[in-house]
Amino acid sequence: FGYVNYLVERDRRFVLDTLLTGLSRLEYRGYDSAGLVVDGDKEGESFIFRQVGKVAALREKIAQEKGLETTRTFVSHCGMAHTRWATHGIPSVRNCHPHRSDVKNEFTVVHNGIITNYKELRTILEKFGFVFESDTDTECVAKLCKYIYDTQKTTMGSTLTFTGLVKAVCKELDGAFALFFKSAHFPGELVAARRGSPLLIGVKTAKKLKVDFVDVDVEVPPEDDSTLLQPDRPKIRRTQSRSFFGEEGVPMPVEYILASDASAIIEHTKKVLYLEDDDVAHISDGDLHIHRLRRDDHMSSVRPIQTLEQELAQIQKGAFSHFMLKEIHEQVESVVNTMRGRINFDDRRVVLGGLRSQLANIRRSRRLIFIACGTSYHSCVATRALFAELTELPVSVELASTFLDEQMPVFRDDCCLYVSQSGETKDTLLALQYCKERGALCLGVTNTVGSTISRETHCGVHINAGPEISVASTKAYTSQFIALTMIALQLSDDNYAKLPRRNEVIDGLFNLSNDIKKTLALEPQLKTLSKEEFGTDKSANLILIGRGFQTATVLEGALKIKEVSYIHAEGINAGELKHGPLALIDEKMPIIMVMPKDRHYSDSENALKQITARYGKPVVICNDDDDSSNFSGLKTIRVPRTVDALQAIINVVPLQILSYFMATDRSFDPDSPRNLAKSVTTA
Ligand code: G6P
Repeated sequence: FGYVNYLVERDRRFVLDTLLTGLSRLEYRGYDSAGLVVDGDKEGESFIFRQVGKVAALREKIAQEKGLETTRTFVSHCGMAHTRWATHGIPSVRNCHPHRSDVKNEFTVVHNGIITNYKELRTILEKFGFVFESDTDTECVAKLCKYIYDTQKTTMGSTLTFTGLVKAVCKELDGAFALFFKSAHFPGELVAARRGSPLLIGVKTAKKLKVDFVDVDVEVPPEDDSTLLQPDRPKIRRTQSRSFFGEEGVPMPVEYILASDASAIIEHTKKVLYLEDDDVAHISDGDLHIHRLRRDDHMSSVRPIQTLEQELAQIQKGAFSHFMLKEIHEQVESVVNTMRGRINFDDRRVVLGGLRSQLANIRRSRRLIFIACGTSYHSCVATRALFAELTELPVSVELASTFLDEQMPVFRDDCCLYVSQSGETKDTLLALQYCKERGALCLGVTNTVGSTISRETHCGVHINAGPEISVASTKAYTSQFIALTMIALQLSDDNYAKLPRRNEVIDGLFNLSNDIKKTLALEPQLKTLSKEEFGTDKSANLILIGRGFQTATVLEGALKIKEVSYIHAEGINAGELKHGPLALIDEKMPIIMVMPKDRHYSDSENALKQITARYGKPVVICNDDDDSSNFSGLKTIRVPRTVDALQAIINVVPLQILSYFMATDRSFDPDSPRNLAKSVTTA
């Protein structure tokens, strides 16, 4: 999170408080430690604060510093802050960002991503006499700033501009980054650079913006391959930058808010621009200039200023104690929002505007490949059967990481669907790049407008579930499920033979919100069940069993339980039970069985008998109209019945709620599960 303001003094708020609040909005992206740097009142002076734990701990640390309370007014309002999700080096104060070039804080840096050649850079910089303070990959960036700045000064007798310096630094870096730079040599200025990690800039002015784009300075230093690791680098040429918001010499009162995602920006402004890969943004004297790290003739030379559609209330907890519970409850509305304006329930038509331009090409594809990670992957597993049934196309579902590991063959007539809540997951993005290079048609299904996946794909569908803050995904899962179902419905609307099936599914979608509402009413029962059946006195394992459409439900249910309650939970396809997992069953093993009344019911009955014959006593999720005697002596969770292909949406809800209570019963914070992050922007 970065913040620079050029306001007259009376309009200024408190910069430390602004940085800390911005940081807390981004906390769900990583929360093992936090830090910030802010300019002091004296020229070139800056303060760095770093603390292990959540942003609240950093706030407390600052509050303890004499004279540096968060409500202190500084002359200059320029700072940057960071929450960390450890990749290189354990969570500790020394590994916290910002990192610095030297004890005088000549250059400070915060970074999201991974610098893959940091070891080589560190070795060279150590040879030049730099002493490293941390185990991170990021620190070499700060040291590199000083090295290049000083070398230019001594060998050329001139100093680099801040942008010129950052360009020279980025040229040395391999890997992915969203980087912010501050420097004592350039007080009140901030430079941001992006390659592979998301970054957007909010622009807040008192008056309405006269323009809706920012020009990009496309001039770049002459191409050459020499780097620090391969010396003989030529002199870096200065590039021209274009002034933008203010007239020359007359800066307009403006605030710039830079962040990895929109949730930290909306309380300031809804006007944002997204940086592209290899953009370098320089903020100084009230102006924003955007430069390029390398020439790309296909890249637009303007960055449009867009209007965010989020509301602040969407990223606040309201009356709920956790985002996870709030988001579980929001599913009553979020499923409707996913379908809004896309399904006409009167004439049972589905129209997805985002696919219009490519519809014929998608239909012509020879196969569909779904690619995703985590919960998003489960939404693909959940919908694959209906997709194949309606489109009559072969559909494969791939974990992005496995897909890349195996370098799967992809062809021009393949259509690849990338499903991602954030639209920024590194592995999914790498798979997208891989398929694009091979000429496949690429379609995005994301929840984040402006995200890299939504911008890099040829066409797509936004799931419109609203911001999801809880690390454990709930409402995005059900909305992804619906979005994928709608795509299958639209693709098959030219197939008359599929009409009855399509109509049945569309009618099911119509009733979905109501069915979810009824399921949420089971919350008190689930709270008790969580204690009685899966309490702290029970085994630290849990098996979930289901088949057919419910295979995805048990996989996703197990993932939720693992993520937030740290219980080892495993989702097992009932068809595989006798090929191994049955060996785990005894009277002590906690089991949840999912068996709605669908075409797999009699197979599930067999599985249930095999389990109870081994003294297993599963809790069963079944339909509320199931009056069979199958469940005598067992506890049941009875949910409304819907069409088979949608039943998994209803069935996952009690598992989401159970996992929530299993976490809170153990005094774990379900919104911040240990070791996890919401948006995994590193591969
Ligand atoms: C992380 C999150 C999961 C999410 C997965 C994929 O692991 O903790 O909740 O399902 O990434 O994220 P995506 O944004 O691509 O859906």
